[in-house]
Amino acid sequence: MIPDSVREEILERVNILELISQYVELKKSGKNYMGLCPFHHEKTPSFSVSEEKGLFHCFGCGASGNSIGFIMKIHNFDFVEALEFLGEKYGIEIRKEEVKGRKEFLSINEFIVKEAKKALFSSKNKIALDYLLGRNFDTDTVDEFDIGYIPEDFDINCLLRNFSKNELFDSGNFFNKQGNFRLRFEGRLIIPIKNESGKVVGFSGRSLDGTMPKYVNSPESKFFKKRELLYNLNLAKQYIKEKNQSIIVEGFFDVIRLYKHGFKNVVSPMGTSFTKEQTAILKRFSDEGVIIFDGDEAGINASFRAIDNCIASNFFPNVVFLPRGEDPDSMLNKNEDEFKKLLQKKKDILIFLFTQMYKKSTTNNQKRQNLMDLYKKIQKINDPYNRNHYEEQLAKVFNIDKNILDAEVKSKTLFKKQSDHKNTNMSYICEEEFITSLFNLSEDIIDNLVSDITEEMFANQKNRIIFKKVVEILHKDGNIAVLFNDIEHGETLANMTARVDSNTDSYKNALINKYKIINNFLDRERKRLINHISTNKLNEEESIKILKNIQDILARQKHINAKLSEV
Ligand code: UTP
Ligand code: MN
Repeated sequence: MIPDSVREEILERVNILELISQYVELKKSGKNYMGLCPFHHEKTPSFSVSEEKGLFHCFGCGASGNSIGFIMKIHNFDFVEALEFLGEKYGIEIRKEEVKGRKEFLSINEFIVKEAKKALFSSKNKIALDYLLGRNFDTDTVDEFDIGYIPEDFDINCLLRNFSKNELFDSGNFFNKQGNFRLRFEGRLIIPIKNESGKVVGFSGRSLDGTMPKYVNSPESKFFKKRELLYNLNLAKQYIKEKNQSIIVEGFFDVIRLYKHGFKNVVSPMGTSFTKEQTAILKRFSDEGVIIFDGDEAGINASFRAIDNCIASNFFPNVVFLPRGEDPDSMLNKNEDEFKKLLQKKKDILIFLFTQMYKKSTTNNQKRQNLMDLYKKIQKINDPYNRNHYEEQLAKVFNIDKNILDAEVKSKTLFKKQSDHKNTNMSYICEEEFITSLFNLSEDIIDNLVSDITEEMFANQKNRIIFKKVVEILHKDGNIAVLFNDIEHGETLANMTARVDSNTDSYKNALINKYKIINNFLDRERKRLINHISTNKLNEEESIKILKNIQDILARQKHINAKLSEV
């Protein structure tokens, strides 16, 4: 049996218009698209496709259905074959059985939402509702977003009556506190995080009294993958299609505020950097997006970070920057007109990057280097039209004739210089690539990746410090993206991200570079020991000890190289 969730996923992911267009020539007619019916002979089109509803219908022969039905009919497939066909085509795994425990997981979450909503509106927990009203959110909005409250003394017996301890534990939202089984988020407001079809797959709990961290999130699990989720997509997707634009903000309350003010096409990647999965999702609904960033250095850095993913997904949103100290929530709450004016000031994300890099280049050499780096970056754009467009814009911003730029690139002088530059910094490059790919991965994967590498393995002092900070944050269960706000190192990090080409497979990239870092480190260690032997007069015992060390290092390098070739 193929579970319902697979069918749902297929129907969500497949755009019926795009699918049927591969079989039938369709022309827009009003809200729908019309073409010649592939299921009966006709000369005038009576076959209609509604993208919005995800359905097709023929007024001639009466054939109708969704995208799965279309594939069944046109290829003469049965239901399972059609799912497998579409799964293959759209990269969706066709599970034969529901992932174990998913049903229970979803019901537990639903249950928590219900209890938390009850608690929020109970007079006993007035502080929680007052907090929301104090921030100028009304009860209708609170209700629509299913915001709730988990009291300090939340009694989980109501859950234990309906679910087993194991099921609760597996859901990730509970923990053992000195033998007592407790729900995370105690004393916090909880914001349910829903998937595209509106099922609650996780929570974020906001503290009311300044307790750190400000938000506690459900842990990553097979059911809750933050990098594949966008907060509010379930409600926003319809409006994104309608307005042909998505608005992307950083936080939960930014989303809720915008939605309340009628900007309903709003979603949030929930504080993390915008992932490739998320850009790909948005692109299904609209090619146009506006990302609202903070106005400070951290916001600019964040916009730089978003760029590689945008290029990889051929999604080129606009960006706007808020005045210092404001976020979309606070600004819109103060002055809607100002906010609207701000939205009008949107700039193309890549052109913004070009301009910033141009402004930053104080010497001619820097200008040249930045031009090269950016040119190289945009070569990753798949779509030739877009690529050419951005090449032109780049030349314009850097004040160089496009023909000269092209000629220079052709003669390879640009790239030659680049590779010289790379050679001298070989060991730093893998360190930078390693660090930047971490920011595309989820915390549990990063944890695993950094477990067998230590800060002294980094040759570059700055990289070493950044790595050390990453590990510190991981130990505190925090989000490593906060490093971009770091006063000392945020900018270095952002520049690094802008400079390094992020591989399409961040995990693989991180792994390869990790082994390179370890190998470089072992090289240095070996050289140091050899140097030590040759420059010092050592007795036999000491020499043997060092030679043994060198042998150990060689063995480790052999092992690392074997691993590297397996990646
Ligand atoms: P912010 O720190 O900007 O919070 O984090 P905010 O959205 O303005 O929150 P309010 O308005 O003070 O309530 C932005 C987003 O980053 C994630 C959350 O998704 C948050 O909305 N975040 C932040 C976390 O996941 N954990 C944290 O500790 C902080
Ligand atoms: Mn805020």
